[in-house]
Amino acid sequence: MLIILSVFFGISLYYMYFRHTRKQLYAFSDSLPSAGSLPVLGHSHWFLGGPERLLKNIKQLCETLHEIGDVTKIWIGPSLYIVTFKPDDIQIILENCLEKDYSYKFLQTWLGNGLFVAPVELWKMHRRLLLPIFHNHIIEDYIDVFGEQGAILVERLRDRAGGQEFDVHTYITSCMLDIVFEAAMGEKMDVQHTPDTPYMCARKSVMSVISMRLFKPWMQPDILFNLTPCSKQQRINIDITHKFTDEVVTKKRNKVEEQIGMSVDWNDNQTRKDLLELLLSNKLNLNDKELREHIDSITIAGNDTTALVVSYALMLLGCYQDEQDKVYNELKNIFDGSLRAPTKADLCKMENLERVIKETMRLYTVVPIIGRKTQKEVKLCKWNF
Ligand code: HEM
Repeated sequence: MLIILSVFFGISLYYMYFRHTRKQLYAFSDSLPSAGSLPVLGHSHWFLGGPERLLKNIKQLCETLHEIGDVTKIWIGPSLYIVTFKPDDIQIILENCLEKDYSYKFLQTWLGNGLFVAPVELWKMHRRLLLPIFHNHIIEDYIDVFGEQGAILVERLRDRAGGQEFDVHTYITSCMLDIVFEAAMGEKMDVQHTPDTPYMCARKSVMSVISMRLFKPWMQPDILFNLTPCSKQQRINIDITHKFTDEVVTKKRNKVEEQIGMSVDWNDNQTRKDLLELLLSNKLNLNDKELREHIDSITIAGNDTTALVVSYALMLLGCYQDEQDKVYNELKNIFDGSLRAPTKADLCKMENLERVIKETMRLYTVVPIIGRKTQKEVKLCKWNF
């Protein structure tokens, strides 16, 4: 009994001390409107449950927060999150707070110091180095790959047309993976025809463990997670994906060095280069591990996002037949019955399609939450933090 009382007393004392040291934070939090929070847990309970319940909860919480103020708050256990929907405030935050939120750290074991999770100083340096490789003219070099993989997608969808209901997103994701892999590292993976290679299975498994950790608070501390079978599964699968990219990097480095040895000018603008070749050839002096981290980050960032936008756009075109007719007629005018691949000039003529894609991204944003840590006072339009 004495032990229980002592533990209880110790915890209470620590809690009072903890609250006292954060007095200013609590006073500030009290000045902000809030919705649906519980004592101690705050809003954590909104983020529990399976994917569907979770999505419903997040949507409802965001709608409520949006209604009660431009700047509101969420408490996740002891962490205070300031929530804003105002574009001006978001710009101020993104310009002033470069450190990513704690939740991004679950990607770190996989992506190391890739752009998503790199510490701020390294991020600044690498971001500057990598910026030129995302230039429009480099993306344009890959329009024929978009066309080639798009044609395979159309064939695969044609097989399903008129049959039973099916999930189009799986098909789109495979196509996007083929495009991203070829553009990022020059690898023709053919995920559209062979989706279940050990590498693809490992990648899927790592992603599902990371998303699971995000929404299961008891799985978040490493000390607890490392005791579970998921941790072992994650380590094995991360090793498989790292090994794959490492091999591609080594192969590519050897190729680049061989070509340089043969006095091939790697900085000419004539031959198309994948992102890995550009990272290797632009004298950036990135080592193999850094290259792997950037290439893995790019293939992950570039796949789900684009696949979701295309899937949502197809869904909306299905819901709004008149808009679908406009897009269909636009494409019919451009291609005039030909099955040739699109060119850059064709893309410039796809005005209706562009509008549909932009409206899709506005209505169904694929990255709905962006989290940053404050490291200094930040003045938002209405408040001082
Ligand atoms: C419709 C498609 C896309 C959308 C909506 C999108 C959206 C975003 C957003 C919102 C972020 C910031 C996330 C954060 O900081 O919390 C981001 C970061 C990033 N995206 Fe995309 N993205 C898309 C496509 C792509 C593609 C195709 C690639 C590469 C081929 C890519 C590579 C990256 C990288 C490397 C970062 C990290 C940048 C950094 O932190 O400096 N994204 N993206």
